[in-house]
Amino acid sequence: MISSEILTTEVNIVDSIKEKYFLKFGNTGDAEKIRVFRSPGRINLIGEHTDYNNGFVLPASVDKAVYFVISPREDDQVILYAADLNESYTFSLGDLSKPEKSWPHYQLGIIEQIQKNDLTIGGFQAAFGGDVPVGAGLSSSAALECCLLFALNEMYGLNLDRFNIVKMSQKAENEYVGVQCGIMDQFASAFGKEEAVIRLDCRSLEYEYFPFPMDEYLLVLCDTSVKHSLASSEYNTRRLECERGTAILQKYDSKVLSLRDASPELVEAHKDELADVVYRRCKFITEEIQRVQDACDLLIEGDMAAFGKKMYATHYGLQHEYEVSCPELDFLVAETQDNPAVLGARMMGGGFGGCTINLVKKEAVPEFEKQMKSAYLEKYQIDLPCYKVKITTGTEEIIN
Ligand code: GLA
Repeated sequence: MISSEILTTEVNIVDSIKEKYFLKFGNTGDAEKIRVFRSPGRINLIGEHTDYNNGFVLPASVDKAVYFVISPREDDQVILYAADLNESYTFSLGDLSKPEKSWPHYQLGIIEQIQKNDLTIGGFQAAFGGDVPVGAGLSSSAALECCLLFALNEMYGLNLDRFNIVKMSQKAENEYVGVQCGIMDQFASAFGKEEAVIRLDCRSLEYEYFPFPMDEYLLVLCDTSVKHSLASSEYNTRRLECERGTAILQKYDSKVLSLRDASPELVEAHKDELADVVYRRCKFITEEIQRVQDACDLLIEGDMAAFGKKMYATHYGLQHEYEVSCPELDFLVAETQDNPAVLGARMMGGGFGGCTINLVKKEAVPEFEKQMKSAYLEKYQIDLPCYKVKITTGTEEIIN
């Protein structure tokens, strides 16, 4: 996709959500006060499950985003209209109880965080939607959270900076939605920059942008279209296993407060005491944290072939040591292994479904997609969605 195409897609989506906003809320009210905000989904090049271990990640925000068309109200009512689902949910700022349907949980979680921080907002009405595929591992939920909080921050002058927005959005997910996610997804959505990946130190929150050259290669996501129910329970189990490993290693080095502070050598030295499962979790995480650093050096050198090999190494670890992959993801990665046009491939995100991310030579992309689609159809009888992604800027207001 070239930039003007992105723009056209965006204009179309914004126009369509605006239209739905007016259909839902009518033409009444102060048109001047209607504003539009955008927050993108994310990919992650390397550094998986390292964020909650205080390690490094290398995400970027992409040209698939959530949009809010929003305006303030005179009362304390919040009316949310999910344009893609054609469903509404109304509540008052004084009652944030959890509804049965799950999509409003993210927005309620954001308002709860605003209130917990003693900040004040008024009622509002909003239509929202977008083109981040839900459940595909592109973090549509983080995009939704960051988009709403950014919008309310602008509308009500809450004086939050992007760090506050990221941390409060993560907390909304941890405390209201109940998913113990790390900080990567919200950070990537809020801090994304065009054609750059972000190396984030999840301990200090220091970050650096690295240019990601897209003139010769494209990033293609292959969406397994499955989400195994294990995803959130196993995610929380992995966190506990990492904590168990940290506690054991700490006995031998008091500076180990998280796996970030441990080396692969330390893990190896205490292999027996860690015991099989925890040992393999710790091995993967300590190596993966190192891999992010090495991968950044390769980006600087422009050695994309070696960068791609790191992606395969990450997948191997996620499949065999961290055990968060699934047969569909493994199949898609294995399919690329003998394709000289594919430099690297791996599962992306939390695991147990979602997408693989593939670094593919640009001219070979159509053939690559064709082959992957036909192999997946034959094996799983599923029409494989493939997304070519562009790296775009993070959360922003759209002014027209
Ligand atoms: C999910 C979580 C992130 C991160 C990834 C795995 O996307 O939301 O915080 O832990 O899984 O890297």
